[in-house]
Amino acid sequence: MIFPERFSNLPAYAFPRLRALLDHLEPGGPVVHMTIGEPKHAFPDWVTDEIVAHAATFNRYPPNEGAPELLEAIAGWVERRYGVPVDADTEVMALNGTREGLYNSAMALCPETKNGEQPLILTPNPFYQVYAVAAISVGAEALFVPATDASGHLPDFAGLSEAQLQRTAVAYVCSPANPQGAVADRAYWEQLIGLAEKYDFKIFADECYSEIYRGEAPTGAIQVARDMGADPERVLIFHSLSKRSNLAGLRSGFVCGGPESIRRIKQLRSYSGAPLPLPLQMAAVKVWQDEEHVIENRRLYAEKFELADEIFAGIEGYQSPNAGFFLWLPVEDGEAATVKLWTETGVRVLPGAYLSRDADGENPGKGYIRAALVAPKTEVAEALVKLRDCLYGQE
Ligand SMILES: Cc1ncc(COP(=O)(O)O)c(C=O)c1O
Repeated sequence: MIFPERFSNLPAYAFPRLRALLDHLEPGGPVVHMTIGEPKHAFPDWVTDEIVAHAATFNRYPPNEGAPELLEAIAGWVERRYGVPVDADTEVMALNGTREGLYNSAMALCPETKNGEQPLILTPNPFYQVYAVAAISVGAEALFVPATDASGHLPDFAGLSEAQLQRTAVAYVCSPANPQGAVADRAYWEQLIGLAEKYDFKIFADECYSEIYRGEAPTGAIQVARDMGADPERVLIFHSLSKRSNLAGLRSGFVCGGPESIRRIKQLRSYSGAPLPLPLQMAAVKVWQDEEHVIENRRLYAEKFELADEIFAGIEGYQSPNAGFFLWLPVEDGEAATVKLWTETGVRVLPGAYLSRDADGENPGKGYIRAALVAPKTEVAEALVKLRDCLYGQE
């Protein structure tokens, strides 16, 4: 039996690793899951009605690039959110959630070589794991760039060497960032887009947490690119309804960018894509058009962040996130803290190192745990108090 070598270095995914770490140990109390970023707030109840209303179209092959109504709804959302008019037909492509799009866009757009060498794909470290697999799949080298306290929890791509930037074909950026909740501001985007223009690489901006924020809405990469008059093919943005609308299971996402990039992604996906069933696309139309439920969703997360700020007040190293729905908490050793918390309280979190890689002898996630604030408020409050008392020794 032969298997490819290509993925032989792939570590097990974070959640099987967590199961191997914890499942043979007894939880020390009622189990509270703070591991996975799966939203638990309600989605609008009319979503179900929309799916049922369009159920007859389950017999049709859905259009690969997205139904025209969906593309229009998405283009309308991009314009309302970022003040950027985009052409629904040529600059937007519907995705089955952002994850596959983040992967398939590298497939469609990463060149075989960059300036005569193996291309580099830049990813923050820690990072959403699909970025690294995309790099391996296209024969590029993934460069894991630390996104630590010292760099404001965003990767300092501008600090890379001339030789590295010359080889760069794609840079993934996650803003708001999973896991740290850091938000790239206008100055960050301007610097990165400037670099991308100078060294001719693409930016894949994973903005799927863009609507879960406190205070000001995060600046979007596309906004800044347009304001700078950058090459329209320079930046692709990725969004979905998973976090914005608590519809992780609906799998509605999109990529928006320059017409040539979108044409190439569409072409590749006409061979290999898995488009969203039409009744789900039609339900997604309404969801992209509605902001009321998004405002309410944001309010619910804001309450939980305020709660976390109260509970962790005075804890050294605690940083209140600006956006997203995770706490990225400093501990001595993430794995040891996860085991201690589980066996003493039943609260289940993720060791930070499961989201990051060793690079230059350091693993920037090692001294962290990630806790998702997705459960209802009272459950989150109880769990966070247990977490604080267990790991930071406060009564
Ligand atoms: C940073 C980041 N990007 C992308 C995704 C993928 O989300 P979806 O495919 O549901 O849009 C997630 C999901 O957890 C995420 O945390």
